[in-house]
Amino acid sequence: MNLLFVGDIFGSAGRKIVRAHIGHVCQANAVELVVINAENAAGGFGVTPQIAEDLFDLGADVLTTGNHVWDKRELIEYISSAPAGSQERPRRVLRPANLQRGTPGYGVFEGTTHSGVGYAVVDLMGRVYMTGTNDPFEAIDGLLAAIQAKVIVVDFHAEVTSEKVAMGWYLDGRVTAVLGTHTHVPTADERVLPGGTAYQTDVGMSGPYDGVIGVEKDLVLHKFLTGMPGKFEAAKGNPKMCATLVTCDAASGRASAVQRIMLGE
Ligand SMILES: [Fe+2]
Repeated sequence: MNLLFVGDIFGSAGRKIVRAHIGHVCQANAVELVVINAENAAGGFGVTPQIAEDLFDLGADVLTTGNHVWDKRELIEYISSAPAGSQERPRRVLRPANLQRGTPGYGVFEGTTHSGVGYAVVDLMGRVYMTGTNDPFEAIDGLLAAIQAKVIVVDFHAEVTSEKVAMGWYLDGRVTAVLGTHTHVPTADERVLPGGTAYQTDVGMSGPYDGVIGVEKDLVLHKFLTGMPGKFEAAKGNPKMCATLVTCDAASGRASAVQRIMLGE
């Protein structure tokens, strides 16, 4: 079976380019499972319930997030509205699994595709140069012990390449895919590791590439050049959808192929 992971949607430019491409990519590849990282979908900061609903309408099965998950406070009520066993849309919006105890929402979703394949999606956040997270390696061990599905997709939302590469090796043979997000620049290291886990350090942002990781370049340059604070706004130019297509065996969850996708206007 084929699954598609769409990298961090950034702002309206990101939403628009994903809307333009996701349908034909899924159709051409008979995609059965669509996971989208949506944590920057609302103007670069968080995701609103309405945008989440729009992404589900486009075909997303599960939405993942990261350090920006609480930027739009209305999302807290949305994801808190679903009980743990629910299959409804609010339950399919994940926050990182290894946040501090007492955090609302869930970091894992288990569901079934239209053809009856059980799957799990895990949202995990790194600890190096990031705050508020517990040890992701310890966290994933506990989560995997409880997951029933064989097809398991891990979004590893982390800052540094070394932590991401290490997680790929740690989970090789134990999950279907470890796909990195957060740094917004796609990496060319996609591969299937020897144990059958598809890996990529960063899927890349689905958003405006004529900016600085999604933000208007002049605003970011001003901050670097003067050290003065300023309001960041989402860029618009040169939008691209970055996604990664993983082919795996539905029965074992073992990946056999991984392909990087980047589509512009
Ligand atoms: Fe992030």
